[in-house]
This record gives sequence, C-alpha cells and structure tokens, in this order.
Amino acid sequence: MYAFAPDPALTKPELYRELAAAARALVAGEPDPVANMANVAALVWQFVDRLNWAGFYRMVEGELVLGPFQGKPACLRIALGQGVCGAAAATGATQRVEDVHAFPGHIACDADSRSELVVPVLRNGLVIAVIDLDSPLPARFDAEDAAGIETLAAAIAVAI
Ligand code: SME
Repeated sequence: MYAFAPDPALTKPELYRELAAAARALVAGEPDPVANMANVAALVWQFVDRLNWAGFYRMVEGELVLGPFQGKPACLRIALGQGVCGAAAATGATQRVEDVHAFPGHIACDADSRSELVVPVLRNGLVIAVIDLDSPLPARFDAEDAAGIETLAAAIAVAI
C-alpha cells in the first residue's frame, strides 16, 4: 500500500513539491516505464483537483502515442506540432491553455475539457513524453501549476 496524505493547509507550490517527492519515491527501484507512468498518472489524478483527464503521451518514432492515464478514452496518436500536446512535444516548452476552444488545432478528446496544461518530460535534452492535464473549468491552470508539474516531470524523467 502506498499512502500519501498531504496536509490540506499546504500552499500550492508546497503541495507540488510534496507530490514530486511522492512520485519520485513511487518510481524508485521500478524499471518498467509503463508501471511508473501508470502510478504517476494515478497520483496526479488523486491529488490535483478539478481535472477530467491526466496522463502521458510518449514520444514513439517521432509521434506522440497515448500512455497511461486517468479519464475518458483518448486519441491514440498525435503528430508533432498538432494540438496542445503536439505543440509541447515539438517545442519542448510547457503549454498552458486557458481556453482550449481558442487554441488553434486543439484536439478534443473529451468534450468536457475547457483548459489544458501540457508539460514535456525531457531526458538528456530530448522530449521523451508529455504530461497532459485537462480541466472542465476554463483557466484552471496557473503558473504555479505549470511550475509544479515541471518539477514532477523532472523528478520522474529517469524512470519512464
Ligand atoms: N487536447 C489534447 C489532446 C489530448 S487529450 O486532451 C487527452 C491536444 O490538443 O493535444
């Protein structure tokens, strides 16, 4: 059993620091990337509120392929540069989208999604995956969420 119970009084940056430490502990010692992504997606789903989708797309032979996630079934493959995930993968930069309907090329996997945060996972300077969070609320993600998920991505990059 893995018990992670952050203090509800934590500030958002503190919560994300603890979440990153918890994720690092969860993946420590396990060499299987799918198992590790599955547990990290579950951890994010449980402790980041107001989400309708949370998970990974992996870079496989030059395109993004769906990885472990929580939420509704989603698009299987995304070309680089396509949608929010493809933009993050192509540029290596976090994409924080306050209104997905205003994002050119946004791919609607779940009609409930209104805002989105996509953080690339980098290893040796290369994008190996992206972490995608969707929310049913507009402008759900702020700069602290982006920084927090970037910290998490860095913490697990060696294990996925
Ligand atoms: N909306 C994403 C596609 C993935 S789903 O949200 C899970 C995009 O535009 O890249």
